[in-house]
Amino acid sequence: MGSFIIEGIGNLEGIVEIGGSKNSALPILASTVIVGKEYIIENIPDIEDVRMMLEILSSMGCKTQYENGIALIDTTELNTYSVPENLVKKIRSSIILMGAVLCRTGNVEIAFPGGCEIGLRPIDLHLKGLRKLGVEIHEKNGILCGSVKESLGCEIQLDYPSVGATENIMLFAVGASGKTIIYNAAKEPEIVDLQNFLNKCGFMVSGAGTGTIIIEGKKIEDNELIEYKIISDRIEAGTYLSAAASMKSKIYIKNIEKEHFKSITSLYEDAGCEIRETHGTVVVSSRGRLKALEKVTTQPYPGFPTDMQAQFMASMATADGNTIIEETVFDSRYKHVPELQKMGADITTIGRVAIINGVSRLHGAEVDSKDLRGGASLVIAAIGAEGTTKINNIYHINRGYEKFMEKLRNLGVIITTIVE
Ligand code: EPZ
Repeated sequence: MGSFIIEGIGNLEGIVEIGGSKNSALPILASTVIVGKEYIIENIPDIEDVRMMLEILSSMGCKTQYENGIALIDTTELNTYSVPENLVKKIRSSIILMGAVLCRTGNVEIAFPGGCEIGLRPIDLHLKGLRKLGVEIHEKNGILCGSVKESLGCEIQLDYPSVGATENIMLFAVGASGKTIIYNAAKEPEIVDLQNFLNKCGFMVSGAGTGTIIIEGKKIEDNELIEYKIISDRIEAGTYLSAAASMKSKIYIKNIEKEHFKSITSLYEDAGCEIRETHGTVVVSSRGRLKALEKVTTQPYPGFPTDMQAQFMASMATADGNTIIEETVFDSRYKHVPELQKMGADITTIGRVAIINGVSRLHGAEVDSKDLRGGASLVIAAIGAEGTTKINNIYHINRGYEKFMEKLRNLGVIITTIVE
């Protein structure tokens, strides 16, 4: 198991280039299954979850190649509608292959993804939407078996703006006959990116980002090559912003669409961090200790993202004053709290609410990364802490952060990896 060893330096200086969005790459790679042809997709981040998704596609007969951020995929030879159970268990977001495989073949077998480190992760909204579109789905020994003969577009009202359910319904409905409208759809920038990719493929999807998505079903018969570049990762950008804001720093964040992480930058500006944009680069300057913010609630986009909750908590752990965080999206996303407490953070949690009493500085400790974003919050805390911190189980972090150690070193962080 790998660990990070980080020296608390208390400041950051330098340039960080943001990579492609993990949560755009995964649904877009899955949607290459819908039409058997060749795809060149650029700005794909070099992370474990992407490698896993490519492994799933090649295990189903597709040809995949990945080098320097570019994925070459040929899905012409897809030879099964059964998604390998052992791989689905490794990456729960592979559930979005369900809609794509059904659209291509009319059948699918895929294991229930089950819960993960941040909560139960039900997929009832995915299944409800697909069933409304005519898919028959039953479960046999933990495997979901879906089949459809004739699919007619329809109106679907999501009970919650689920990102995954919106994506799964989109990937199936593009092949249904007639119009499908998804109400209360997720509005994340990654949904807009998926719509743009599908339209590049020749489909007709509109409304992404507004909460109401309209899909005109159609069959694509051509085999023209599709080339597409995905958006950059707003959560990766927010993670570096959180680190810089928490200590005396000046960093330059390149390749990020400021609009996509406005709900993050506005919070840090309220806490006293100076953030400005010049020629597509976001410049973050911080004098050191932030002001605590009274209450912050995680929300679906465009609200403050749940994927930034842990990183924000690390920033508030040394802020001047008390902050209340309410995690409204997932039911167990505070596994980083006991680890931050080992570093001297004064945090109390009651259900989905966390109360953070800012201390002047944290101290180094040995801590465990329990999930992707929680692990990132420990790295942020360690950079600003007094002394040395050892962070174990860093495979969680490498699932979603491309070249993390290299990018941190470019900002002056003293970090090494050990494997025990
Ligand atoms: C996506 O997960 C992201 N993952 C998550 O990022 C992100 O936290 C989440 O959206 C919310 O923004 C990817 O895009 C690969 P949801 P997803 O369906 O689709 C409940 C990260 O760190 N729900 O919007 O699984 C669910 O339990 C990851 O990069 C149902 O009840 O999220 C949760 O409480 C973590 N029934 C809430 O909705 C359903 O059928 C949001 O889930 C589906 C979801």
